[in-house]
Amino acid sequence: MSKKFSNTMRIITNGPVELLGDIQIEGHENSSSAYLCRCGLSSNKPYCDGSHTKGGFVAEGEIEAKQSQPLEQEEGPLKVSPRKNGPNIINGNVEILSDSGKHIEQRAKLAMCRCGHSKNKPFCDGAHKEIDFEAEGT
Ligand code: FES
Repeated sequence: MSKKFSNTMRIITNGPVELLGDIQIEGHENSSSAYLCRCGLSSNKPYCDGSHTKGGFVAEGEIEAKQSQPLEQEEGPLKVSPRKNGPNIINGNVEILSDSGKHIEQRAKLAMCRCGHSKNKPFCDGAHKEIDFEAEGT
């Protein structure tokens, strides 16, 4: 039986990433939930504003489960650092779930695509450089 993580990240098919837990997004108020844009089209980055629908964003949410090592801890804050013109860097213990809630893996550090062009969605593969993605960040 899987353990209970205090933070979860659900990959929504053709839509954003849903974060639940102790969410701390750099430059924004802490919250218990957030929807992060992963299509690159939001006017309110790093948050989703629904533009993925109009933009016809297509991205799988039922990604394959991976073997991952148990984490030393399963609690603590989930810190999101949007990188200027790049991905969302996520630090903190988190369980990744498919759109339907299936366990994918657990991680303590991640780079999540937010330009919409990675070939390894929902993770960053550096495609933001090729498309000259522009977004605020540090
Ligand atoms: S994923 Fe919703 S606006 Fe980008």
